[in-house]
Amino acid sequence: MQGMWIRGGRRLAGRYHVSGAKNAVLKMMAAALMTEEPCVLRRAPAIRDVETMAELIRHLGVEVAWQPGGDMRVCARGIGSLEAPQHLVRQMRASVLVMGPVLARMGQVRVALPGGCAIGPRPIELHLRGLRKMGAAITEERGFIEARADRLVGADIHLDYPSVGATENLMMAATLARGTTVIRNAAREPEIIDLQLFLNRMGARVSGAGTSSIRIEGVEGLNGAIHEAVPDRIEAGTVMIAAVMTGGDVTLVNAIPEHLEAVTAKLREAGATVEETTEGLRVTAGERPKPVYLRTQPYPGFPTDMQPQFMALLALAQGASIVTETVYTSRMKHADELRRMGADIVVDGQVAIIRGVRRLTGAVVEASDLRAGAALILAGLAAEGETVVDGIHHVDRGYEALDVKLRALGAEIRRIGEGVPVVSGLPVAKA
Ligand code: EPZ
Repeated sequence: MQGMWIRGGRRLAGRYHVSGAKNAVLKMMAAALMTEEPCVLRRAPAIRDVETMAELIRHLGVEVAWQPGGDMRVCARGIGSLEAPQHLVRQMRASVLVMGPVLARMGQVRVALPGGCAIGPRPIELHLRGLRKMGAAITEERGFIEARADRLVGADIHLDYPSVGATENLMMAATLARGTTVIRNAAREPEIIDLQLFLNRMGARVSGAGTSSIRIEGVEGLNGAIHEAVPDRIEAGTVMIAAVMTGGDVTLVNAIPEHLEAVTAKLREAGATVEETTEGLRVTAGERPKPVYLRTQPYPGFPTDMQPQFMALLALAQGASIVTETVYTSRMKHADELRRMGADIVVDGQVAIIRGVRRLTGAVVEASDLRAGAALILAGLAAEGETVVDGIHHVDRGYEALDVKLRALGAEIRRIGEGVPVVSGLPVAKA
């Protein structure tokens, strides 16, 4: 299993370029299935989830290719297969987002039911209920969802919960439906606004993304489009916290401040300075972080995808903090690993009490999922001594060249593979 070796204590400083948003690009790749014309996603992030989505799209018989300069080209001239296989859906839950597009274009789709994952059971009943309202006949058997509809019909859909994926799946399906669809209590994430922009560039007629009510007027067909996704606000937030935890001074060159308002507010509450500059966001650490109360919420509330990383910061705060996770049922596994580094954290269900300690100490820890892994890397950057974060394949799902980009800010961090000689649990660091 690949790991990341870190020697903590280095202050991060400099300029950091944020990659394109994983949680925007994955959906745009799915949306490209709805036209036989080529689509180009400019500077798509070279991360494992994008590779997995490309593998799924190739499995559907569609051309996907990286172009020089890092652009991703998808050309669904025809769709040869209508099935998203179990091994790919299990590997990446976002695979279910091909359901709406393939059903809308082909009138039929078969998708393996996504299992749960490290952060909790992740059902898709909101996706299915919405598609049924649009006239799809949906059956579930032997772990697969089968959906059929000669042509989807516009409907007025109210989501019980502002699910990001359900909003996106239904939004995409509705672009080719007959008539108008309204999605109420829709998710409001910035990536959904970006998806609306991409769909409209393809000739769709979508409005209201970013609000709780999204209106889609169905059209007869869509064309190809070129688009560059918004910067990844979670990557940006992760690095903002790295700057604060290491006493650093980092400018996130292309971050979009309004996408990070909740994170910025909490970092300021914890004593950091966050300034909007002409280049993006500049983060400078204050004295020892102050404790805060954190409660994750759907956007524009504090993002669940930043909860593990912020907990790593609070482990060093001057006092006790409370973190409440309201989006997932078990997104606290990183607390066990932070404790191995000396953190004082008590978890009760979806609530964690973090009593700040003066310093963390390096250890061999293991990532359970993408953002937990990121949190452990942050802890390693701030800890005394050496840390190895195992299971770095989780982090590679959503962060492009994170070690390279952090080294450029002064971090002592490098990837280690199997077979690296280790003594007392830590790799024998080369000179
Ligand atoms: C997206 O997942 C993101 N993934 C997640 O980011 C993010 O944590 C999540 O939105 C919330 O912001 C992508 O965009 C690829 P949801 P998604 O549907 O769409 C429950 C990361 O780290 N739910 O808003 O799956 C669900 O179980 C990943 O980049 C239902 O109960 O999120 C969860 O508890 C992790 N029924 C909650 O809603 C449904 O039909 C939020 O899920 C759908 C969802």
